Amino acid sequence: LEWIEDADEAIFHAFSVAVLVTLGLGIAGGALLSVAFLQRVDAISRTAEAIIAGDLASRIPVRGTGDDLDRLSNTLNHMLGRIADLMEGLRQVSNDIAHDLRTPLARLRQRLERVRATAASVDDYAVAVDAALAETDTLLETFAALLRIAQIEGGARPPVRDPVELHAIVETVVEAFTPSAEEDGKVLVSPRLDPAVVAGDRELLTQMLVNLVENAIRHTPAGTRIEVDLTAGSGVVRLTIADDGPGVPAEERGRIFRRFYRLERSRTTDGSGLGLSLVKAIADRHEATVSVSDNRPGLRVSLDFNLHDGASAQPAGGGHPVTAQHSR
Ligand SMILES: Nc1ncnc2c1ncn2[C@@H]1O[C@H](COP(=O)(O)OP(=O)(O)OP(=O)(O)O)[C@@H](O)[C@H]1O
Ligand SMILES: [Mg+2]
Repeated sequence: LEWIEDADEAIFHAFSVAVLVTLGLGIAGGALLSVAFLQRVDAISRTAEAIIAGDLASRIPVRGTGDDLDRLSNTLNHMLGRIADLMEGLRQVSNDIAHDLRTPLARLRQRLERVRATAASVDDYAVAVDAALAETDTLLETFAALLRIAQIEGGARPPVRDPVELHAIVETVVEAFTPSAEEDGKVLVSPRLDPAVVAGDRELLTQMLVNLVENAIRHTPAGTRIEVDLTAGSGVVRLTIADDGPGVPAEERGRIFRRFYRLERSRTTDGSGLGLSLVKAIADRHEATVSVSDNRPGLRVSLDFNLHDGASAQPAGGGHPVTAQHSR
């Protein structure tokens, strides 16, 4: 009986010690973990407070261990970077707008002042009022274009994802602009036109192509050949507008999509420098990538779209892309 009692006691003792040690380790470990966790949560909230206080460049420290908190911090930092970029873009845009709308307004004012000082007859006034009206119309158009870009970029309306036959748009636009191109002594053709269906907004896509074709007509000398091509293959649709005009120097190619940006030599032509900003906004909305390159000589603008789900890039029954010849 004594032996059994000794054994019982020993077992009880061993269990007590084991439970105590486990409890102690558990509590200590838990405390350590929660202190480390709270410290990192503190770091996140400190960063948030710094940003609220105005330090937009502040970022959450990342330990590099790749744990859950690190991943969260990385994602939050990424988000903060994106917001900072957008803010910077916004600041630049408002600067550009203020800057570029001042000039025509100042010109208008000068004109009116001059008329007031020099006009001798009612006819003089009539001419001046007509000129002023024309200038205000241009200004209003500029505002309308700005608002339209903002609307498309801001996604005020949910994006339209209708199946759109891009080849039909190219055909319509090329047909519509051929007479004015010819009038200017330019050739507008679309040598290759694969059938391609993308998801998007027909009206916006048409506007985008119109802007690009208009540019190729407006910013090139007589005798220029303008080619609009549509190629479809392996899930990607590429729309290319290429001319053999003067092109855009490599260092300026990144800037032409900015609002109001125009090359020095284009300052005397009509336009406000918003056409390509609209093109970029529409392309972004359609998840299409725009690239500008040298057409040797001339400018080549390419837009890569994803093929609309379930649509076929290839014409039915044939493995080869259709080549439509427009001999205009
Ligand atoms: N095909 C081209 N060849 C040469 N330069 C071009 C071409 N397309 C655009 N550019 C240059 O890029 C600039 C920006 O083009 P964008 O379409 O944004 O403005 P814009 O045509 O001047 O005015 P608008 O607002 O009426 O379109 C043009 O002013 C021109 O200098
Ligand atoms: Mg333009």
